[in-house]
Amino acid sequence: MDSHSLAFLFFALLLVTVECNSEGDALNAWKINLADPNNVLQSWDPTLVYPCTWFHITCNNMNSVIRVDLGNANLSGNLVPQLGNLTNLQYLEAFGNNLSGSIPREIGYLNHLISLDLYNNQLSGVIPQTFGNLKSLIFMRLNSNKLKGTIPDKVIKLVQFGNLRIMNVSDNLLAGSVHRHGFATTTIIQDAKKLRSC
Ligand SMILES: *[C@@H]1O[C@H](CO)[C@@H](O)[C@H](O)[C@H]1NC(C)=O
Ligand SMILES: *[C@@H]1O[C@H](CO)[C@@H](O)[C@H](O)[C@H]1NC(C)=O
Ligand SMILES: *[C@@H]1O[C@H](CO)[C@@H](O)[C@H](O)[C@H]1NC(C)=O
Ligand SMILES: *[C@@H]1O[C@H](CO)[C@@H](O)[C@H](O)[C@H]1NC(C)=O
Repeated sequence: MDSHSLAFLFFALLLVTVECNSEGDALNAWKINLADPNNVLQSWDPTLVYPCTWFHITCNNMNSVIRVDLGNANLSGNLVPQLGNLTNLQYLEAFGNNLSGSIPREIGYLNHLISLDLYNNQLSGVIPQTFGNLKSLIFMRLNSNKLKGTIPDKVIKLVQFGNLRIMNVSDNLLAGSVHRHGFATTTIIQDAKKLRSC
């Protein structure tokens, strides 16, 4: 191996290491922000190189996080912008907790996200405009929170041009209404009564 390819290899390894550490750092930034009375995050040891052995975390074969499974975990606190650094994340499952505060716009940078389940929390603020970038998203369940404002047009477009098939935003403080005619395979649930009358 000549010195050029050796240098390249070293650089490539450095990149991989830095990237993987940053995913652990991002998750740890979230952990620090949470109250965890049931100690479900006990295995989240930030000194490990990869977060892949942590409970409730799943990685791909490149040691990059693809799932966070923290549904019904009795967690309180906020979602943090650092979650947007989990670049390969496909499933963010944090339903049925006591999460409050607003949804960071950075979650809209997760362009591999398939499922975003934040229902049954205390989240407030608006649905970020950046969610319009979530072209891989199939499930978006934000129901039973305290979200206000309207559903961004860009998010509605995900139904038409993206993959979004299930979007439940009912039981929030959202304004306006959504009609689901024309989207044969999609269910947009904003208000149970309106849905039945469609
Ligand atoms: C996350 O990404 C932001 C840029 O969006 C960067 O400034 C920050 O250092 C990263 N944080 C972690 C913990 O990786
Ligand atoms: C959730 O945590 C609270 C303390 O904050 C505790 O009183 C309650 O029993 C816990 N609930 C469950 C289902 O573990
Ligand atoms: C829910 O979160 C709020 C704000 O962080 C906190 O004051 C409250 O005690 C939490 N409730 C429970 C049941 O954990
Ligand atoms: C949509 O959300 C509401 C409120 O949380 C819930 O009652 C309903 O079962 C959900 N619908 C579906 C199809 O998940």
